[in-house]
Amino acid sequence: MEKEIIKVLFIGDIFGKSGLLAITNFFPIFLEKYAPDFVIGNAENADDGKGVGPETAEMLFSSGFDVLTTGNHIWDNWKSRPFLAKTNKVLRPMNYPSGNPGLGYFVYEIPNTDVKIGVINLQGRTFMQTIDCPFRSADRAINDISTKTNIIIIDFHCEATAEKIALAHYLDGKVSVIVGTHTHIQSADERILPKGTGYITDVGMTGPYNSVVGLKVDIALKRFLLQTPFKFEQASGDEHIAGVYFEINCTTGKCIKIERFFYPEFQKQVL
Ligand SMILES: [Fe+2]
Repeated sequence: MEKEIIKVLFIGDIFGKSGLLAITNFFPIFLEKYAPDFVIGNAENADDGKGVGPETAEMLFSSGFDVLTTGNHIWDNWKSRPFLAKTNKVLRPMNYPSGNPGLGYFVYEIPNTDVKIGVINLQGRTFMQTIDCPFRSADRAINDISTKTNIIIIDFHCEATAEKIALAHYLDGKVSVIVGTHTHIQSADERILPKGTGYITDVGMTGPYNSVVGLKVDIALKRFLLQTPFKFEQASGDEHIAGVYFEINCTTGKCIKIERFFYPEFQKQVL
């Protein structure tokens, strides 16, 4: 089917059991509202906070996701490695050194259309592992994908706001959309850059907000107060879904609309 515009949903870091609960409870609302042609989600924390294995990925695919991206925590889960080696529907940051399993980008066919979409997963280096350069890695992936489609989405899994904004300006006009992930807090700066690239610094977390970015509050406090390691425990409670919806012109590959959502809204007033 010929399309002028494609509609894409990106769901932010799906964290553990609470994240999956938020998907079950709230994701259908946004599937119905936006009727997207393609759905991407960051699942680096989907399996109890650490990585994503085949069972959880399958649950997400059957809920409506087409592709899952990840980040640094994909390597914390021993089920992730063999899974990454045999799937093209779960990506890991492409700029890890060669020799690691999995794909960092891929070109997909959008179901029921003749449109192709390239998805790239990158990771920042500021306050993170000193892996390969995300800027030059993006250049290489874009060169390859551009021979097949001009619709390109990047999940830049990154700690530092400045690094995300720098990459967005570096690639403005060369890709359709860049979304940031990893901080687990949604930023309020979604916009279309001057040369047509849609951008948001962070999509935010789909998961438990009764937490410190997903971690149980008492564990996080011990880590900060005592400055020694404490066993990771995922939090639960106060679930929300965080995402971004965007529309892309199929001819130009440019973003023509970007809209973020966070549901339910935080309580901001006591009545
Ligand atoms: Fe991360």
